[in-house]
Amino acid sequence: MERSDLIEVAKRMIHYAETGTTASHDEGPRRNPIATYTDPEQFEYEKERIFERYPQLVCLSRDLPNPGDYLTRDDMRKPIVVVRNRDGQVRAFLNSCSHRSARLVEGQGKLRGGFVCPYHAWAFDLNGRCTGIHKEETFGEVNRSEYGLVELPCEEKYGFVYVAPRPDAHFTVDEHLGDLGPQLGSWDLGQATLIDSHEWNLDTNWKLALDTFCEGYHFWPLHSKTVGTFAMTNCSTYDRYGKHGEHHRLGFPSKTILDLRGLPEDEWDPMEHFSFVHYLFPNISLLVSPDEVELFQLFPGDRVDQHITRYNLYMRKPMDSDERWEAARQHFGFIRDVVDQEDYWVSANVQRNFRTGMREYTTFGRNEPSLINMHRTFRHMAGLPLVDEPVPQGEAE
Ligand code: FES
Ligand SMILES: [Fe+2]
Repeated sequence: MERSDLIEVAKRMIHYAETGTTASHDEGPRRNPIATYTDPEQFEYEKERIFERYPQLVCLSRDLPNPGDYLTRDDMRKPIVVVRNRDGQVRAFLNSCSHRSARLVEGQGKLRGGFVCPYHAWAFDLNGRCTGIHKEETFGEVNRSEYGLVELPCEEKYGFVYVAPRPDAHFTVDEHLGDLGPQLGSWDLGQATLIDSHEWNLDTNWKLALDTFCEGYHFWPLHSKTVGTFAMTNCSTYDRYGKHGEHHRLGFPSKTILDLRGLPEDEWDPMEHFSFVHYLFPNISLLVSPDEVELFQLFPGDRVDQHITRYNLYMRKPMDSDERWEAARQHFGFIRDVVDQEDYWVSANVQRNFRTGMREYTTFGRNEPSLINMHRTFRHMAGLPLVDEPVPQGEAE
């Protein structure tokens, strides 16, 4: 990102901090039906019309550094494997053998030559071509060119690996990310080092879990002993990106942001005083700061009130000492625990309260513009009419 853009963001934050304001939505506060988190029909539409239709960020380039490196994922409602081929390109396949559909590989690892199916040892190269039929003389002749793996469209760009969920889909990362792509590309995410991963399987709707990454209104109350000790609460910039404004970027200032006022502008190091949390439609929260990249991927579970979150921490600076590794692991544990014991603790109890059916609405404040817009985007992309409405006036004393 250009330095002038970072300065502009810092100035907006200083203004908000000085005036006790924050980015806001012209139409807020708005009521949103709780059914949005509990209705099985909406949930089906989201899976079909959002998760089946739009490309998914599967991993960072850094997760597949060398030819033969592969990684499997099962959260796109189908088993997939992504692999880097001999030419350095990443390809994606259904993790399913063309003989009798067995899973080819598990987890993550490195393939020497190519895939060898564990069931009857059919072989496939890193481009998915069938290269060997075990005991072909007894099996009988088959046309190998018709027995390749099912390939899924895949593109690697800006340090991301994106995969389309259907073989006949067409997409480009630039089309999908729009003006946010080059901005994210400027962070050199492809160079970051993976520190650790954690996965949650929770009884919480996937959008409810996502909400917690999209506002800083809760920083002081919920995170008073953790994030709230260094981040300003209820104070953030908000910018939208993409063709329909479907992606966004929140800038969360640290309490030190006001220290910049005492320095000439050309001495500012703005990124020392805030971090960006990007939302990439439909299911990614991506924090970028000078040191860290925190990737949260959220997926619908089997039921409307279940979801899966995968959290990966990467470090952007070279991990060239034991001290750096130790500090990075500590940071990983800190964030995992904050999300686990604070954010996701509250999401789970909210979902339990929803189940009582005794409340009809949840309300997004003017100071939570990203929630109002994000939930509208979900409805719009799922082909459903918008349902949020103004808070009735005259109810307050
Ligand atoms: S299912 Fe793969 S070789 Fe038989
Ligand atoms: Fe939080």
